[in-house]
Amino acid sequence: MFYSDSGSTSVEVALKMALGYFRNIGAPRSRIVVMEHSYHGDTIGTMSVGARGVFNAAYEPLLFEVDTIPFPAPGREQKTLDRFEAVSRNRRAAALIVEPLVLGAGGMLMYPASVLTELKRIAETSGTLLIADEVMTGWGRTGTLFACEQASISPDILCTSKGLTGGTIPLAATLSTDAIFQAHYSLDRKKTFFHSSSYTANPIACAAALANVEIWNDEPVAERIAALGALQAAGLRRFHDNPCFSDCRVTGTIAALDLRTSSPGYLAEIGPKLRAFFLERGLLIRPLGNVLYLLPPYCVTGAELDRLYDAIEEAGERFGSKP
Ligand SMILES: Cc1ncc(COP(=O)(O)O)c(C=O)c1O
Repeated sequence: MFYSDSGSTSVEVALKMALGYFRNIGAPRSRIVVMEHSYHGDTIGTMSVGARGVFNAAYEPLLFEVDTIPFPAPGREQKTLDRFEAVSRNRRAAALIVEPLVLGAGGMLMYPASVLTELKRIAETSGTLLIADEVMTGWGRTGTLFACEQASISPDILCTSKGLTGGTIPLAATLSTDAIFQAHYSLDRKKTFFHSSSYTANPIACAAALANVEIWNDEPVAERIAALGALQAAGLRRFHDNPCFSDCRVTGTIAALDLRTSSPGYLAEIGPKLRAFFLERGLLIRPLGNVLYLLPPYCVTGAELDRLYDAIEEAGERFGSKP
């Protein structure tokens, strides 16, 4: 377990652990495989393994090359698996990094747990490490403590932050298997895991994380999360036949739907208009372009969710274009 202070740093640490592992066992590998539309942070390393676009275009010359597998969109899951099998066959890939079950900033894109199970199987076959970036999906977001549980897999490296302190104070942790730890644990100082920061395992942040863990241990958190998931699924139901929206989707406590518009995408004009529309009604919903999503705090009430869904319905009538 290696502590740091943000989701981005937890991913940087994960990437360094993967490369350090292969170097220290004397079989260097340096290629990272990534999933299309991913987001892993805003540092140079994490931008390199995330989707390229307007947000990182200025820094492109500094970003390292990666192999990209397609997003497993419904009906195209096998393409993702085939591509991963192909890029990992030459055994140059150190790691595959994924956001398990839900790609957040990429548009709340959801894929089935079975794909994750298969990705792990292929990774094992080729000796490629699996890095699970659970920065957003961890701590109950997808319905289980970690999303990987739903795929019945244990990643080689797991990144966690955000929910680790209940979203209150900056803290992150990168967890690795014993094999990766042992590859760095040596009297040979060249094998040291060289990463440190002034605020690593900051005691106040750790106290907040411990308080969060106590809540998980002592309170019926799993039941609350299941109840919130059910509310989200029920809330979305009214949009299934609404022509102003498409792709209604829910995974655990996360609900998302796309507003039909003639110009979709993250930078679509509609994004700021929608945000202003919701703010006027006292609601803080931050759309990703035309993608509307609700990722509420676990203390949200059914009545509050209803207000949000009512406003989304109204927004559909105001801004949506019917097919
Ligand atoms: C999946 C994922 N990874 C990494 C990050 C980066 O975390 P931070 O903003 O704490 O650096 C985020 C942030 O939203 C995220 O959603």
